[in-house]
Amino acid sequence: MQEIEGKVTIVTGASRGIGKAIALLFARNKSKVVLSARSKKELEEAVREIKKERGEAFGVPADMSQEPQVKNLIAETLAHYGAVDLVINNAGVGIWAPVAEMNTEDFDTTFGVNVRGIFLLCREVIPHFVKKGGGQIINIASVASKSANANLAAYCASKAALVMFSESLALEVRNHNIKVTCVSPGSVASDFSADFPKDRPTNRPGLVKLTNEEVAEACLAVATQNPNAWTSELILRPLRTG
Ligand SMILES: NC(=O)c1ccc[n+]([C@@H]2O[C@H](COP(=O)([O-])OP(=O)(O)OC[C@H]3O[C@@H](n4cnc5c(N)ncnc54)[C@H](OP(=O)(O)O)[C@@H]3O)[C@@H](O)[C@H]2O)c1
Repeated sequence: MQEIEGKVTIVTGASRGIGKAIALLFARNKSKVVLSARSKKELEEAVREIKKERGEAFGVPADMSQEPQVKNLIAETLAHYGAVDLVINNAGVGIWAPVAEMNTEDFDTTFGVNVRGIFLLCREVIPHFVKKGGGQIINIASVASKSANANLAAYCASKAALVMFSESLALEVRNHNIKVTCVSPGSVASDFSADFPKDRPTNRPGLVKLTNEEVAEACLAVATQNPNAWTSELILRPLRTG
């Protein structure tokens, strides 16, 4: 088993939902956590919660679709902790719209955050990992990368692109002692889908959702896996169906 104690972990989309649960769990396991998202106030609140539990953390506001802000996230982390050991690319957006009605900006935002933003952060951190002899990247994809959903074409396509991006990147870097893993959860009880219609087919009554904490625990399992073993993708579903 690999220890995360003392390791520096960047978590994007850490202001709420799954990302915040990951940041809290990693801090409880004594990782030094860098929380990132756009909303400064929510980030500060999450950092306060971690510090209240005597964890170590600080926040760096960043919009993952903005290249200079992604570069700054790595620069600030290195300035503060002197290293990065783990990156958890969790920030993501899903916009509910039929293709015929979706505007170009919403499509671009979906790919800009869910795919391009992750490419930017990976490109920034990999030279650092190579130099220090290893590192780990966990990308939060989704079961939506494998199962089609009407009115979510851009989101499903972005997550499918993320899975293939991650698998290809993993092959590039594995011999530098760098692991790249996708964690792909089914439906999670977060506020992610708050803007989606309540009567959509994928929201059937009795649907059992994963909790934010269950996804965080899956990320911890991946991060603490034996150094010689690599999980390329972890598909996470609730055990019971209702
Ligand atoms: N909920 C589900 O059912 C589910 C299932 C499978 C996979 N996922 C994936 O899990 C991840 C987290 O989702 P969640 O359910 O926790 O959603 P959420 O509650 O909406 O949280 C999304 C996080 O991403 C951040 N974010 C959004 N746009 C951003 C941007 N442009 N730059 C930086 N940060 C940004 C948000 O913070 P700010 O708004 O402050 O920037 C927030 O912290 C996503 O990648 C999602 O696709 C979710």
